[in-house]
Amino acid sequence: MKILGIESSCDDSGASVVENGVKVLSNVVSSQIDIHNKTGGVVPEVAAREHLLNILPVIDSALKKANTDLNEIDAIAVTKGPGLISSLIIGTQTANVLSIVKNKVLIPVHHIVGHIYSNWLDIEDEIVFPVIVLTVSGGHNEIILMRDHLDFQVLGESRDDACGEAFDKVARILNMGYPGGPEIYKASLKGNENAFKLPKAMLEKGSLDFSFSGLKTAVLNEYLRYIQMNNIKEEKDLSEKFKCDISASFQKACNEVLSDKVIMALNQYPEAKEIHLAGGVSANLNLREMIKSKIPNSLKFRFPKSLKYCTDNASMIASAGYFIYNSRKESCHSSSNIIPSTDFSM
Ligand code: KG4
Ligand code: ZN
Repeated sequence: MKILGIESSCDDSGASVVENGVKVLSNVVSSQIDIHNKTGGVVPEVAAREHLLNILPVIDSALKKANTDLNEIDAIAVTKGPGLISSLIIGTQTANVLSIVKNKVLIPVHHIVGHIYSNWLDIEDEIVFPVIVLTVSGGHNEIILMRDHLDFQVLGESRDDACGEAFDKVARILNMGYPGGPEIYKASLKGNENAFKLPKAMLEKGSLDFSFSGLKTAVLNEYLRYIQMNNIKEEKDLSEKFKCDISASFQKACNEVLSDKVIMALNQYPEAKEIHLAGGVSANLNLREMIKSKIPNSLKFRFPKSLKYCTDNASMIASAGYFIYNSRKESCHSSSNIIPSTDFSM
């Protein structure tokens, strides 16, 4: 079964064709990074206008790269939310129209469910349930127990900023560009992770929730102290050493909390057979290494097969769409007229 995936929840216009939920035939993303770099973050109106320009060429290119056309596509899966409403509307309305005109089944996909299925892309073996999934992105942060396909129990989530959002905000404080995650990671390689003692919010005993806003404020306070002590007037005068040391210390604090919470989830649900990492921050190699070093060797640890499946992409949406269609055929129709929503159930 060939599914066309469409993703437009934030600042990437994505389209892709995936066969049977696993085999990626094409994965096209038109990134808006250069545009949003100028403002240090995403301006929703600007993002929506870019989606409008890019969505049809991106779909066209995904079909061509997969050596197929719309007539050969069995269904269309589209991100229904959560995300920026003006961005989501471009993807959902495009999918609605294509499904009506071409009489294709339309499958709405929750964005986080999409990220969870990024671990199915291009794999050759079978995933064994139950799975503990840590999703870490710019807009969301959860620990989920997945007992079977589409059977999700949210064990914990962020009470304030998502981890990726904290990476982006810290990079903004340090004038390091957008998105912040990759910049902080690069700087951390040259920094001393023990240079600053930053808070790790573990919350109440046994809680699998997250909180990153205190850590972000602690970085801001270190920054203010540093510029005052060194009489720095402009961000460009921040020393490389300060930027690298604070990046490494911040990243360590984030990743220790994330990996410790995975271990806590595992202690609470020892029946788990696999640990999965998903979402934009799963691209962070330090986080991968830290989780791997803490979990027993007997557990399979997965993260997306390619870095391009970590951040927003349409292949993960097409994959999730395949498993949704297989379990709930009766509720997937053509001309369903999908409207953006944040309902996790489907
Ligand atoms: O999943 P995603 O593309 O979008 C959302 O659903 O939010 O995640 C984007 C987030 C951004 O906050 C970005 O800074 C972060 O993923 N990110 C990283 C890395 N690459 C991207 N964070 C840490 N280390 C990275 N290497
Ligand atoms: Zn995402």
